[in-house]
Parts: sequence; C-alpha cells; structure tokens
Amino acid sequence: MVITFTSSIRPCCSHLLLSQIFPKYPYHFSKSRKHPNRYEVVAQAASTAQPLHPTFDPVPSTGIPTPILLHELKPLEISPLLPFPEKSRTVDPVRHEPTRRTETVAEREAWKLLNRAVVNYCGKPVGTVAAADVGAFKGDLLNYDQVFIRDFMPSALAFLLKGDTEIVRNFLLHTLQLQSWEKTVDCHSPGQGLMPASFKVRTAPIDGNTSGEEEVLDPDFGESAIGRVAPVDSGLWWIILLRAYGKITGDFSLLERVDVQTGIKLILKLCLSDGFDMFPTLLVTDGSCMIDRRMGIHGHPLEIQSLFYSALRCAREMLGFNEGSADLIRAINIRLSSLSFHIREYYWVDLQKLNEIYRYKTEEYSQNATNKFNIYPEQIPDWLVDWIPDSGGYLIGNVQPAHMDFRFFSLGNLWAIVSSLTTPKQAEGILSLIEEKWDDLIGTMPLKISYPALESDEWRIITGSDPKNTPWSYHNGGSWPTLLWQFTLACIKMGRPDLAQRAISTAEKRLLDDNWPEYYDTPTGRFVGKQSRLYQTWTIAGFLTSKLLLEKPELASILTFEEDNELLEGCACRLSHNGRTRCSRRTAKSQLLGKSS
Ligand code: GLC
Repeated sequence: MVITFTSSIRPCCSHLLLSQIFPKYPYHFSKSRKHPNRYEVVAQAASTAQPLHPTFDPVPSTGIPTPILLHELKPLEISPLLPFPEKSRTVDPVRHEPTRRTETVAEREAWKLLNRAVVNYCGKPVGTVAAADVGAFKGDLLNYDQVFIRDFMPSALAFLLKGDTEIVRNFLLHTLQLQSWEKTVDCHSPGQGLMPASFKVRTAPIDGNTSGEEEVLDPDFGESAIGRVAPVDSGLWWIILLRAYGKITGDFSLLERVDVQTGIKLILKLCLSDGFDMFPTLLVTDGSCMIDRRMGIHGHPLEIQSLFYSALRCAREMLGFNEGSADLIRAINIRLSSLSFHIREYYWVDLQKLNEIYRYKTEEYSQNATNKFNIYPEQIPDWLVDWIPDSGGYLIGNVQPAHMDFRFFSLGNLWAIVSSLTTPKQAEGILSLIEEKWDDLIGTMPLKISYPALESDEWRIITGSDPKNTPWSYHNGGSWPTLLWQFTLACIKMGRPDLAQRAISTAEKRLLDDNWPEYYDTPTGRFVGKQSRLYQTWTIAGFLTSKLLLEKPELASILTFEEDNELLEGCACRLSHNGRTRCSRRTAKSQLLGKSS
C-alpha cells in the first residue's frame, strides 16, 4: 500500500481508515524522502525490536508484533468516575470522602465555554482553540484560533477528570502524526522529534479533484511563530499528558502502540542527544516555552528543566521493555540524577545561600571551586536583598557562566515541586515563600508568571523594547490565571490545599465578571491585560481543573512524582541532609560506574 502525503495531514474520513494512519502494528510504507518518515521509522523500529521478556515472542508468520511490556506504569486504583454533571462533588476536608454539591455559576459558565472551544476534525474532537474571543482586536485572531499543545494541557485534564477521555486520545494521536511533518525554516530542517507549538484544522481541495474539499491539519513548528522559536516544551507536555491519560484510563493499549513508543523515543532522542553542553540542563533559545517571546530566558531556563525532568520520569515509566530501550532507560536514569543534583544545588536560593553568594570569591580556577560558574556577587539584585524571607526559598530562573537570573518564575518552581525535581524540604520552602509573598505573587489575581518585572534599561536590552512585554504586563510580571491549576497541583502534593483554595476564591468571581482574560497587568494584577484576549481557553480550563483537583485530590497523582531514592543513591553528588556535598568528578564517575574510588 502506498500512501502519499503532500502538504498536510489528511487522515480524514473518506479514503483512509484511522487504523491505517495510526498503525497499532508496523505498516510498511514505500514513500521515500530525504528523511525517513514516521512510518519508515516505525517499521524499522518494529523490525529491529527484540523482546527482553522471554514469554513475549514475536510471531512473524502472522505479522503480529511483539507485545510491548511497559516499564513501570501502573493504572490508578481509584473508584470509577460518576457521570457528569451528577459527578459534581466536593471532598469533605475531614473524612476525604466525596460529597455532592452544586456547581457554582462560574463553573457552569466555564464548562459551557470550554465545550464551545472544542475543535473537531473529521467530526471528532481533537483539541480546544487558544481563545474564542471573536470580538478581539478587530477580528485579528493572530494564531489564537489554533490548538496549542501547551494550552490544551488544562483542557485535557478537565476532560479527563470529568471522565471524558476521547478528545484527549484523539489529541495525542493526531499531534503524534504531526511530529513527523517535514518542517523547514529557510531550507533548514529541525529535528525529527519536534512537536508543533500549535495546529489548525483547515479545509483544502481534495487532490486532483476540483469540486471536493476535505479537512486537513496544519501545524506550526515555529516556522510562522513570532520570532521563529522552536517550542521545546510541546514534546515534553505531550509525554506528560500521555502518562496522565494512561494512568487515569488504564488504556495501556494506546501507550504500547509502536507509533506511540516511537514518538516518545524521538522526543527523547532530541532532548538527550550529545552537544557542546557542560551541564545536564537542556540548552534552548529564548522564548521556547510558555514565555514565547524574548524575555532573557535563553540558555537553561528553569521552566524547561522542570518539564524535562518530569517528561523523563514519565517516559521511563512508559517505555516498552526491550533491548532497544534498555540503553535509553539507562541514559534517562543518569540524566535524571545529574539534572536533579544540578538544579537542587545551583538553582536553589534562600537567605543562607544568598549570603554565601554575597561572599563568593571569584576567578577560581580549579575543579574544587566553590563559585563554579564565576558569579560576581554584584549580580545579587537590590530587590532581592529585602525580598528573600527568613525561611523558605525558591529556584532561580536560569544559571549560566557568570550569570544567575534571580527572577522568580512560577511555572518552573511549581512544576519542580510536582515532579519532585526539588528535595521535599525545598518544595516546602517554595510554598512557604509563596505564602509569605502572597501580595506580590498572587495579589488580586493568581498567578505572577515572573517576578519582578524588568524595567528601564533592563527592559530595553533584555526584551528588545518589546511593547507587549512592558513592565508588569504580559510575560514581564503579568498575572496568568491559567497557572492556578499548576499551583493547585503543587499545593495538593505538599498537603496545602488550603492555599490553593484561597487562590481560587480570589480568582473565581473576577474571572467570570471579566470574561476569562488571558492575563492581567500591574504589580498586583488589578487591570485586565492591555492586549489580553477574553474567553481564553486555558484560563477557563485551568480554573475548572483546579476545582476538580481539589474535589478529588487523589487524582493529582496522574501528574505528580514522589522522590526517587534509587536515583539519589545512584548519584555521587547527592545532597546530604544538613549540608551540601560537593560533586567531585572522581567520586561521581566511580559511583556511576558502580566502583569504589
Ligand atoms: C501566548 C503565550 C503562549 C500561549 C499562546 C496561546 O503566545 O505566551 O504561552 O501558548 O499565547 O495562548
């Protein structure tokens, strides 16, 4: 069978079966390209895969593939969800048993809007638009009419927590198709595992047929995006969502599919490939994540590292067990342990650590240097000296040679708690700082995307005089209500649902009255953002997901991870309980190789 794809993905209704497009078993396509496409990669991967488990033998005569043994993933042991809307329940804080309650006006409205934001492809739901603000900016929707991978996360979770899994399954499979897209920016092709930032459903004439039209999926990998930035976070979110879907539905048949397994491996290959790096953190350009414009977050921004760590842990659970994956799992384990050491040690600041930095010696040339990155103490910003509380602390935004970005970035810190990238004590410290600095980070609308804002020369130089990112607006110190769901998740993990409840109560009525804006401006979030869209889907979905997580806190485990002690034991440079152990190359090597030094 020969299937030719031209400029768009067309797995649509009329001439192809879905199973042919998303083969559960290896299909052999004869389409040749400069780069092998997904089907060739899938077919190659399937033909070379050898089972490690002796009871799972391939049956070549029938063409039925080797069953894949998932590495670690276990379904959640939870009571089945009740049908919605009867399922509106709350958790009695004392007995932790669900009790029925009626939805609030804001919740009812939010569900109505979320359902309205659903995008269909060939009659099936595949995602939600970024914003359904038809009246916005004289109809100039930019790309807000597209389905963004990162924006769909809270929508997917709201649907999953409600028991509606079809849209999430379709989304996972369709975006997987787009991963193998031939993408070029001025004759250059980015890596094969890249996931798009967003996609749109368009209608196009059927090939060779002047009368008919069909729906096609049209992705954007950054070739059209402002600044032409590759969305590094998309693939990481995709892996995180895949695990959440698997855990809540128990639908492991999806995770075991050869194309899905190949998709995970392609993303990992991109992330784990060798480069010039000296650090275990991922090196990216500015604007490669939720902050998708120039904001001085190039290099090793915290948000990417937290998502990377989380995606590695998810992938490790989901990878099939065979010879091919054994090396990959080993590589993941090594990266996980060095990444967590690096972040816990070098990104963490509290009063004590700041005081250490303040007294740093510089220009140390040696392997035992204390000030490894040659940070000049003058970099400690004035605002931080008074701002850092006596107890608690946070992970700073970026660490590079001779540079520490001391800004507080919410998503990176929250996701570091959720994925156990931090130590439990650091996780407590971050929540305690947020509580202490409530007026600055939550104010009248949760949650600051970054704190504080870049002003004057810093704004001019770092943002390139970006008129959208003026001080205390948008990515530059604006408040983003979508971050509520990540805050709720972190609070539940740390046993502080009261904090999440407080933030949700602050947001609920205002979001409804203001028509669910994308972001708010000013230091305390008092104004609706200057260029903010209304009816922003991830604002709506973030609110609903937060509510659902608070009702069923045990479901937070579809996204969270506990500390992995084996990883810590395997790491030569693990943190001791009451102080920091310096990482020495010799001990690190001998412990990683399992020899004594
Ligand atoms: C903005 C945000 C980005 C989001 C997109 C769609 O560009 O910075 O994170 O994905 O809007 O909502």
